Amino acid sequence: EKGRFRHFMQKEIFEQPTVVAQTLGSYLRRVEQQVALPQMDFALADVRRITIVACGTSFYAGMVAKYWFEQFARVPVDLDVASEFRYRNPVLEPGGLALFISQSGETADTLAALRHSKAHGQKIAVVVNVPTSSMAREADLLLSTHAGPEIGVASTKAFTCQLAVLAAVAAHLAVVKGKMTREEEQDAVRHLLEAPAALNAALAHDADIAAMAPLIAPARDVLYLGRGPDYPLALEGALKLKEISYIHAEGYASGEMKHGPIALIDEAVPVIVLAPSGPLFEKTVSNMQEVRARGGKVVLISDAAGIAEAGEGCLATIEMPTVHPLIAPLVYAVPVQLLAYHVAVAKGTDVDQPRNLAKSVTVE
Ligand code: F6R
Repeated sequence: EKGRFRHFMQKEIFEQPTVVAQTLGSYLRRVEQQVALPQMDFALADVRRITIVACGTSFYAGMVAKYWFEQFARVPVDLDVASEFRYRNPVLEPGGLALFISQSGETADTLAALRHSKAHGQKIAVVVNVPTSSMAREADLLLSTHAGPEIGVASTKAFTCQLAVLAAVAAHLAVVKGKMTREEEQDAVRHLLEAPAALNAALAHDADIAAMAPLIAPARDVLYLGRGPDYPLALEGALKLKEISYIHAEGYASGEMKHGPIALIDEAVPVIVLAPSGPLFEKTVSNMQEVRARGGKVVLISDAAGIAEAGEGCLATIEMPTVHPLIAPLVYAVPVQLLAYHVAVAKGTDVDQPRNLAKSVTVE
């Protein structure tokens, strides 16, 4: 049931504070401020390398996880889309953990990659939203997201719930690897528990984003830029826009702009910049200036400090709450989802059933 919402996608975007809280609730102990993962028959502390494999939006969640696992736990991570991984004869050494991320738990390429990894001696962890799915059944470690059924073809709430689980896993891995102290773990848990409120604050910008959608709807091409763990969000924003509004969009690491895509920039190409303030903000600001110097129109998604510093001269700004970097990817998912949604509505496309797409890709 869509209730007061016009589309399932819209309803699912607005469910995120609730379902992320539910998901975090099963991985975080509130009183002890500690991460608790389900029982497993192997020791995470012994894992020497993690291979993350997924498709589409779930792959972008995996890409954020790579930043986190390497930064916090100092565990090397390989990352691949399932359709490449399964055919490239990847090197899978003993002691490896293969992690598969999937809303449906049935995506054909991801499932085949799981079976390949299992046959090559990897321990199998899965982050899935359907606990009765094939991937859930075949895993050594089942990490469920509690997003509830996702009906809209474009994945939204499953993505932020995947990020919530992966952030908890990153903190736990860091603790068992001796890279995070108990105090640091408590701090990470506290920040994760702030995510639902921060998601609500992000959702409060729905009307502003709806109001700016008509500025983006006529574009033929749109670029999304981000850095670090927010770079996958740029890719996710571009994917959401193309799949439901049929506007060509690309996500780039901000620093890659000058290596090619800047040639595309003119007044007709909106550039959506995802940039929470922080140590790398200045670098992104200079990338924005390069865009503006070529007539490009920038939509800056940042926090109050970022907008105060760099908002002038932008086509539009969208102010996110000021959050800890660990939860920024969850929070910044909201404006890119809402932007894609409102642009699609402005264009009159079928938001919940975009052309040529299936909810679950069970063919190769
Ligand atoms: C994008 C989208 C797809 C899926 C991809 C993987 O909005 O929904 O890109 O993310 O098909 O599906 P799952 O997560 O079910 O394996």
